[in-house]
Amino acid sequence: MNAPARIEDHTSARFRALMRELTGISLVATKVSLIEQRLRRRVQAHGLPDTETYLRRLLDGSLGEAEVRSVVDLITTNTTSFFREPDHFTFLRDQILPALLADAGRGRPRVKVWSAASSEGAEAFSAAMVLAEAERDGAAFDWAVLGTDISTAVLEKARSATYDAAQMQTVPRPLFRRYFMTSDDPELRDVVRVVPELRRRVRFHALNLMDFDYAVARDVSVIFLRNVLIYFDPSDKKKVVRRLRDHLAPGGFLIVGHAESMVVDCPGLVQIRPTIFRRVEP
Ligand SMILES: C[S@@+](CC[C@H](N)C(=O)[O-])C[C@H]1O[C@@H](n2cnc3c(N)ncnc32)[C@H](O)[C@@H]1O
Repeated sequence: MNAPARIEDHTSARFRALMRELTGISLVATKVSLIEQRLRRRVQAHGLPDTETYLRRLLDGSLGEAEVRSVVDLITTNTTSFFREPDHFTFLRDQILPALLADAGRGRPRVKVWSAASSEGAEAFSAAMVLAEAERDGAAFDWAVLGTDISTAVLEKARSATYDAAQMQTVPRPLFRRYFMTSDDPELRDVVRVVPELRRRVRFHALNLMDFDYAVARDVSVIFLRNVLIYFDPSDKKKVVRRLRDHLAPGGFLIVGHAESMVVDCPGLVQIRPTIFRRVEP
């Protein structure tokens, strides 16, 4: 039997250029084996002999647009968890929310949170639990959470708001009891679902951070942009941060991942904590 053809350098370069153009994700040449590993099932699904043949057909368009979307789903890294980098959620509760409510003056405050690379929704629902708890404690305000991502597969999961019970390890017990449903059905023992009252306040839609325009309101109170800039080139990181800044209300907050704070150097944003920035009038 012939050994499968290895991916040729120019095919790999064209594929990486396509992914960069579509997603901003910068796949380095050394990650060819990762590409092969992630695409193996697609190669098999099309009955093709090897990844080289598959990539050539993807690149010449003969596998169609839907296949390109499947590849984007496979190339993106979707690791996430509830209350990941927990100090951000403590800061949201103890500092950001009181500041936003105090700034609102006499009208009823409205707090809008945007999880801008939401993956399966754990970040959006973690923020939602913080806001729901504040409301429960007597704060009077309206709120809504938006989650967006480029990957259609993770958005589908986020909309279902259904998670493995094992993912609840990082959810504080009282919040788990209040905001998740379990089932008596033994088949569903390992699955939990966010309660409808919370689901109603959290929406998800597709959005590519590489797009020139974002179909999102320009008065967002808090944007979470965590653990996604790390995959982008410096010039793309800068553009994304500037575009997101323009969606923050004056006094709004941008929160980035702990590995990403150094990349935010943007007029109109002042750093108030190592990973937290606030919009000031430019
Ligand atoms: C590692 S996850 C981070 C999830 C969450 N923010 C967190 O910190 O737990 C990165 C997410 O960014 C998304 N992503 C990658 N490129 C993107 C782009 N160009 N536009 C929007 N989302 C993107 C991926 O699909 C993935 O779900």
